[in-house]
Amino acid sequence: MTKSLQLNNGASMPCIAIGSWVGTSPNSKELARASSWLSTALEAGYRHIDTAALYGTEGAVGEAVRRSGIPRKDLFITTKLPFHHTKRVRESLDRSLKRAGLDYFDLYLVHWPQVVVYKNNQPVPLNADGSMMLDETSDFNDTWKEMEKVLASGKVKSIGVSNFSIKTLEQLLKTATVTPAVLQVELHPYLAQHELLRWCKDKGIMVVAYAATGYAVVREDPIIVALAKKYNVTPTQVVLSWHIGRGTGVVAKSENASRQEENLTVIELHEEDARRIDALDKNRRLCIQPDKQGKVFGWTFDRLGWQEESVLQAEAKL
Ligand SMILES: NC(=O)c1ccc[n+]([C@@H]2O[C@H](COP(=O)([O-])OP(=O)(O)OC[C@H]3O[C@@H](n4cnc5c(N)ncnc54)[C@H](OP(=O)(O)O)[C@@H]3O)[C@@H](O)[C@H]2O)c1
Repeated sequence: MTKSLQLNNGASMPCIAIGSWVGTSPNSKELARASSWLSTALEAGYRHIDTAALYGTEGAVGEAVRRSGIPRKDLFITTKLPFHHTKRVRESLDRSLKRAGLDYFDLYLVHWPQVVVYKNNQPVPLNADGSMMLDETSDFNDTWKEMEKVLASGKVKSIGVSNFSIKTLEQLLKTATVTPAVLQVELHPYLAQHELLRWCKDKGIMVVAYAATGYAVVREDPIIVALAKKYNVTPTQVVLSWHIGRGTGVVAKSENASRQEENLTVIELHEEDARRIDALDKNRRLCIQPDKQGKVFGWTFDRLGWQEESVLQAEAKL
């Protein structure tokens, strides 16, 4: 059983979640695969599952939960509001609950800060020039008001955001009456987000890492490899232990039962070793990459409040 983190509303969240993304528009085979790896994860002791309406895996999550026989109160299930549903939050949540066959979610996140036009329920509607059809008539402050309403309905126990930054969170907090309980972002040794973590700690917002392993790129980093040898664990265990030592939550996805168990077993790193991992930061995104226009779902890095890798490197040299 993993240890838990306390959120700003008193709720308890298991610090290691199993991910459920299985590709864009998954077919029935892929969904069956997701449901199967979620089942082995629950058997291994995971009690936190991360899904999203955009992943199409909410049904697979519900299936695995029912098959496990684990009482609902012993599980923590996170899902996310898609950016084209930001003007229909209540309806979108009801659909997510129905797909999962659940009465409530433990955590409901605004998946992205962008507001995207609702057109034939397409998640990524495009303009003729191939750019994302953004809806500039409302913003995430409006979305958050609706999130606060669904929180009051009891259908979600906590609300939070994903892919926000200090810049967008500062804007959100100007009108929020409920501070987000969680911020889920890409976070690993090559994108350590030191400043964001300090800022969130100060505001009482719990940070959860996705792409937390840093994939093979981080697993093969010589410092990580050396630390794995030193502690007699795997490189991924070193990385996940670093996250847990920093007090963040983690979403780590593995389809493989033995790697799922491996990822649940974290160790305590010595202070100086944690600092060596801190120093690997390159502000390098390994999961979410900008398109040819330099945008992520229609927004520039500047609008997202994300720093370009080259900018950070240049500042470090000053
Ligand atoms: N909020 C967002 O916008 C957002 C974005 C991306 C992801 N997420 C969430 O985060 C979850 C995880 O993200 P992710 O899949 O990008 O990153 P990840 O969990 O860091 O990496 C998963 C990859 O690492 C491999 N892996 C896992 N544990 C390993 C180990 N111990 N040794 C070697 N390889 C290992 C997996 O392969 P095997 O399966 O073969 O083990 C898989 O290829 C997603 O499923 C989703 O729930 C959220």
